Amino acid sequence: MSGRVALVTGGAGGIGTEICKKLISEGYRVVVTCAPVFECPNLDEWKKQREAEGTPIPVYEANVADFTSCKNAVEQIEKEVGPIDILVNAAGITRDSTLKKMTEQQWNEVIDTNLNSVFNMTKQVFTGMTDRGFGRIVNISSVNGRKGQFGQANYSAAKAGMHGFTMAVAQEGITKGVTVNTISPGYIGTEMVKKIPEDVLKKIIAQIPAGRLGRPDEIARVVAFLVHEDAGFITGANIDINGGQFIH
Ligand code: CAA
Ligand code: NAP
Repeated sequence: MSGRVALVTGGAGGIGTEICKKLISEGYRVVVTCAPVFECPNLDEWKKQREAEGTPIPVYEANVADFTSCKNAVEQIEKEVGPIDILVNAAGITRDSTLKKMTEQQWNEVIDTNLNSVFNMTKQVFTGMTDRGFGRIVNISSVNGRKGQFGQANYSAAKAGMHGFTMAVAQEGITKGVTVNTISPGYIGTEMVKKIPEDVLKKIIAQIPAGRLGRPDEIARVVAFLVHEDAGFITGANIDINGGQFIH
């Protein structure tokens, strides 16, 4: 049992919840951040479910798109729970639109929430990790950051940028015991994918050689692998988990 503290942003989301469950089962002390509470209508239900499962998880409010909000949340977590050893950047949104129709707001919201967020959060924990000589950072990118996707210029750009961040910060962290890696999931059956029009989604699934959407637990097990004490030689890597949809 590790006892290390793991922070999962977007921890109450579809993929985030499975990451939390997996890390708890492996002995980590897990905390999550969620978007400002008024934007999380299902949060109370989520908390009740975790309590019913016997594994209540502390939730802190942090808008990942806002640097100061992240700073305040991390300060509070470190005061109340302890130094953060593991950060999983899993919060994210889509605002799909063809470039012709995309508004500046749709562009900015996705870049702020999916890319600037990674700076906003990692910046708060990185120095502590290097000072203590241990840290694990996992950035949840996307198959669409690897290959691009029709209607996702904003999201594909943010998710591709995420891995650039991973590769740069991996070089800064590895001499101090801190690893930084990217996971690029394919289409996983969560609320995010349920927003895709049914006819469009059918066509997308037809392009996945595995013949199905992925499951959140299939992402969670790779997060657990990367954050393990024994994974200290893996850094700057991207791991594709996409049912064969994109092989590079
Ligand atoms: N390739 C080429 N052309 C396409 C196309 C595609 N994949 N999809 C649509 N088109 C064409 C249509 O045939 C149509 O052509 P005509 O005008 O000649 O008839 C045109 O594009 C439609 O353009 P519109 O701007 O009117 O598009 P729309 O408003 O109907 O919808 C869209 C555009 C919102 C992008 C919609 O196609 C869509 O939702 N696509 C899904 C995008 C997607 O994969 N999102 C993933 C969300 S989940 C996620 O992101 C998680 C993850 O990491 C995997
Ligand atoms: P999800 O269920 O919609 O979860 C997304 C989470 O991000 C939610 O908990 C959401 O909180 C949180 N979030 C959104 N905006 C935020 C903000 N400004 N501040 C703080 N938290 C915010 O989607 P998911 O499928 O689990 O996605 C998790 C991650 O995996 C995302 O980064 C996504 O891009 C990535 N991903 C998903 C897929 C897929 O197919 N599902 C594939 C590849 C990559 P609220 O709900 O409270 O707003």
